[in-house]
Amino acid sequence: MERTFVMLKPDAVQRGLIGEIIGRFEKRGLKIIAMKMLHVPQSLAEKHYAVHKERPFYPGLIKYITSGPVVAMVLEGPNAIQAARNTMGATNPVDATPGTIRADLGMEIGRNLVHGSDGPETAAFEIGLWFGTELQSWQRDLDRWILE
Ligand code: RTP
Ligand code: MG
Repeated sequence: MERTFVMLKPDAVQRGLIGEIIGRFEKRGLKIIAMKMLHVPQSLAEKHYAVHKERPFYPGLIKYITSGPVVAMVLEGPNAIQAARNTMGATNPVDATPGTIRADLGMEIGRNLVHGSDGPETAAFEIGLWFGTELQSWQRDLDRWILE
């Protein structure tokens, strides 16, 4: 079982797409084990995107992510990291496969609606950063119909 960090970015919240986007992860079978809505403080945004600090898009990215509330969550499931990223689609919506969140709902890389951890180490770091260590999973009665 794997955990990943997913965030609905401010454009997703402003456009009224919280339910639509969470529904896609939820319906697929990824289990939500933590969730909160918050205005991202500058310091948290900078820590979260520290790997991109030297990139030309970094200032715009920090401005975007702190521009309004986001919905942060932890999803759990087998291969949750890859499953979530495949459901999200390619970083640039114009390259994303139809059926994915970014292709179906987005137009440009700078407004790509959603974030998902890109590997096990990133997931552990991001879950700790946004939610701390005391996360508890839960027994989902439907699991025997979703997971073999
Ligand atoms: P994310 O981290 O948000 O899940 O997206 P990702 O792994 O697919 O993409 P990443 O390379 O980590 O980039 C992080 C976010 O930075 C913004 N970005 N803008 N204007 C640009 O050229 C550009 N490149 C990246 C996007 O919001 C991207 O999701
Ligand atoms: Mg990334």
